[in-house]
Amino acid sequence: MNNELLAIGQRAARDAGAIILKALNHPRSPDFKGRTNLVTSTDLHAEEVIISNIKSEYPNHAILAEESGADENNSEYEWVIDPLDGTTNFVHGYPSFAVSIACLKKGIPHIAVVLELPSNRLFTATKGEGAFVDEIPIHVSGNTSLNWSLLVTGFGYEHGRNWEANMALFKKFTEVTQGVRRLGAAAVDLCHVACGMVDGFWEFDLHPWDTAAGILIASEAGGMVSQMDGNEYDIHKNHILVTNGEIHKEMLAITKPVVELSNR
Ligand code: IPD
Ligand code: CA
Ligand code: CA
Repeated sequence: MNNELLAIGQRAARDAGAIILKALNHPRSPDFKGRTNLVTSTDLHAEEVIISNIKSEYPNHAILAEESGADENNSEYEWVIDPLDGTTNFVHGYPSFAVSIACLKKGIPHIAVVLELPSNRLFTATKGEGAFVDEIPIHVSGNTSLNWSLLVTGFGYEHGRNWEANMALFKKFTEVTQGVRRLGAAAVDLCHVACGMVDGFWEFDLHPWDTAAGILIASEAGGMVSQMDGNEYDIHKNHILVTNGEIHKEMLAITKPVVELSNR
């Protein structure tokens, strides 16, 4: 069953990826879900194709997709889909976006596929069976100190308290690491932790479809996943910290007080 689920997830991601890459060669005009929250016809088309791939094999599975919402039923399986993570990058032609598809079993990520674009690198994971890029096993970095680390974060579309708090964290981490990147596609950021390109990632206000696949890939690659105050993370929580494990405690010492202040 696991192999079949993974194969369907991969096929759906590849089909969506082909649509997205083709659209990159044409003018891309966004609609606005908020002033900076963009959506394009490509997001919608990619999502349709992913859902029809899944429905053709598993008509009874539940689905939660960013653009079309929840299609619930009693199945223990639920597919959580971001058809195009990093839409702003896609619209501007900045090369960091992805298709993110997870299959949850009883609410827990079980199968994960992230197709990084435009590089077309396929990250996959199955619970308990490791993480891979293009079928090659991947592992988080072995960096043991924040001083030697490269981090990545993101900023949500709402410019409220959490956004301000993240500005403060961005400054703090920039002071004590080798640098902080801000690429604009959370699923890609998580995969970059998984393959050791960066040592840690944190962000506020993400949605289930942003993290469902990436957290399984990162944890199967040996990473550690929690909320920014150290509590257990699930895809409905509103802040996340993912590291190589080695620097988790050091990062928590910085994120925890900031989160507690922001929540007051
Ligand atoms: C966004 C990206 C971005 C993150 C935003 C997300 P979208 O997803 O993951 O990195 O900072 O919070 O909403 O809207 O491009 O699918
Ligand atoms: Ca997203
Ligand atoms: Ca999206």
